[in-house]
Amino acid sequence: MSALTDTFGITTPIVLAPMAGVAGGRLAHAVSSAGGLGMIGTSGSFSPDWIREQAAIAGEGATPLRGAHAERGTHSVAPQGTAFGIGLMAWVPQLPAQIEAILALGVEDRPALVSVSFGDVAGPIRTLREAGLAVACQVGNAADVAAATAAGADVIVARGGEGGGHGRNEMATGEILALALDETDAPVLAAGGIADAADVSRVMTAGAAGAWCGTAFLTCREGENTPEARAAIGRAQATRYSRVHDVAQDLAWPREFGGRAVTTPFLEQWADREDEMTDAARAEHAAGKERGDTDYTPLYAGVGVDRLSAPTDAASVVTALTPRG
Ligand SMILES: Cc1cc2nc3c(=O)[nH]c(=O)nc-3n(C[C@H](O)[C@H](O)[C@H](O)COP(=O)(O)O)c2cc1C
Repeated sequence: MSALTDTFGITTPIVLAPMAGVAGGRLAHAVSSAGGLGMIGTSGSFSPDWIREQAAIAGEGATPLRGAHAERGTHSVAPQGTAFGIGLMAWVPQLPAQIEAILALGVEDRPALVSVSFGDVAGPIRTLREAGLAVACQVGNAADVAAATAAGADVIVARGGEGGGHGRNEMATGEILALALDETDAPVLAAGGIADAADVSRVMTAGAAGAWCGTAFLTCREGENTPEARAAIGRAQATRYSRVHDVAQDLAWPREFGGRAVTTPFLEQWADREDEMTDAARAEHAAGKERGDTDYTPLYAGVGVDRLSAPTDAASVVTALTPRG
């Protein structure tokens, strides 16, 4: 069907984007069981033990890949492991320990794909590839494409500013997809605002090997987010790109990677003036988060949020995203 399905032995060209706090082993397993490629999301606060546990859940009962092989142009990919993935963030200080935990996994729990995004990706991509793992990298501008390609990334994820969660907001999904297809021979997936089968068909017609979807899975019961968060996401109609939640929580995200989240009064108040945020505002955010108020809990989501229904399950979402015919 595509370089993605052939390479990873999956039946539909849909990847569950790694989403820290939402995509754990259970959701990844459910997506892979439904024919896609489920990925576990991590951030700096996820320990090597957590990674081991969640990899075991994601890989449970799955048949290890036998080195399937696919090519696009001069680039070839031959993943080993089991049909699920793990997403890492390049900028977090915990990255080396997280990579070590992945490399120590047994063959049944070994991911077929590891992604490294957001920051200096060259070293981690090389380390993972030298250990025989296939590596993906999310790119948001021309410099990202060049860096990921030079480091030998096996799968390039062209991620536009429509996407939920962190990333760049410089290019739209269609633009970065066209650029990446021009600049690399590796299979390219499209990400950002892809919310139904028509969207998936559109990016595949443009040359993508598949779609890397996050927001579409945010209301799945298998997710690690709370039922309250899922309900709020299901009701949400609008999103905004900003650094508000990171600044409010003093997170060390590099400035160029803001996040797209559900619009709330607090977010509207501080977007575009994050550097002026007061201690009182930070305290208001912390207190709101502490009491589970979804006006303050960061609800990261992309522009496709208004097309979500809540609640649902991963298999239904995979079916709804899969192009027919
Ligand atoms: C709630 C949420 C959490 C995310 N966490 C991560 C993460 O941990 N690692 C990562 O590489 N990308 C993360 N992302 C970005 C996704 O990988 C992907 O780029 C994005 O979801 C694609 O756009 P879409 O949400 O419109 O489908 C996250 C996205 C969301 C919505």
